[in-house]
Amino acid sequence: MDLDLDAHLTAAGAAVADAANLDALAAVDAELLGKRSVLATVRSQLGGMEPDQRKVVGRRVHEVRTEVERLIAERRSVLAAGARAVVLEAERLDLTEFDRGRRLGHRHVVTQTWERLEDLFVGMGYTVSEGPEIEDEWHNFGALNFPLGHPARDMYDTLYVEYGEPQSTLLRTHTSPVQIRVMEDQEPPIYSIMPGRVFRSDTADATHMPVFHQIEGLVIDRDITFGDLAGTLEAFTTAYFGAGFTSRLRPSYFPFTEPSAEFDIRRPDGSWLELGGCGMVHPNVLRSCGLDPEEWSGFAFGFGLDRLALMRHGIDDLRELFRNDHRFLGQF
Ligand code: PHE
Repeated sequence: MDLDLDAHLTAAGAAVADAANLDALAAVDAELLGKRSVLATVRSQLGGMEPDQRKVVGRRVHEVRTEVERLIAERRSVLAAGARAVVLEAERLDLTEFDRGRRLGHRHVVTQTWERLEDLFVGMGYTVSEGPEIEDEWHNFGALNFPLGHPARDMYDTLYVEYGEPQSTLLRTHTSPVQIRVMEDQEPPIYSIMPGRVFRSDTADATHMPVFHQIEGLVIDRDITFGDLAGTLEAFTTAYFGAGFTSRLRPSYFPFTEPSAEFDIRRPDGSWLELGGCGMVHPNVLRSCGLDPEEWSGFAFGFGLDRLALMRHGIDDLRELFRNDHRFLGQF
């Protein structure tokens, strides 16, 4: 019996040393120390032995078991350290690496999208306008034909700023207030786009972020029709996404446009994605900005800029854009 156990210990030591990874070691552990192991079998036979023999064999079983446990623990820590070193190497991020011969980085994919859209519309004769991110309720809502207490204000989960009268100052919920600022400042004809950051108290998920980007478009001229709006959006879709993508308009509601529509694009795989809203500028909005609706008409649209970036690059989670993991961003 003694001899058997010594041979067993030698074999066990070899099996432990051979285990190439933690999974293999777990299997060896079960085989050597589990219920059906040699050690368990010998121990179950102790009861049938003479007292003297039982004492000797019992002690030896205990010694061998303790030794096997020690070998396994030792091997486990070696393998775990190795596995960890592999993970650390794979996730290594050396931000001090600097080599003039190599790429120094590039613009964030959202910035690239922003600039690409500006180029495209500038090419179609539009100017680029900007407005403040902290707005007053008049520009964000009132001038856009949302009277105080109008239920459509609830379309937006507005973040208010503690400044002035309660609810008089807010983080803009859309880029539409920039339309108002442009109409206040410029004489028509107006052909302008207004990219920018907007804010809503939304919970982050794959398609929503509390801070995101929109790009607004505004055209004010004489005799502008809904056909001009549809044609502009179709021209934009083809220019931005390429052939194979088309767009559709679905009736919708916004207080500042009449009629209003939702704008979707169709991917080559046949699926539709909502990109934003649009419509003919409401006469009340023109009047708020001192323009005569009998003389001037126009259209407006507003898209989610981040969603355009997702679509174009086939990214399926909006949050990836804002995690700032350079291994992810480096792909675009
Ligand atoms: N501002 C609207 C929104 O954020 C989108 C929109 C812009 C709709 C312009 C119509 C015209 O939901």
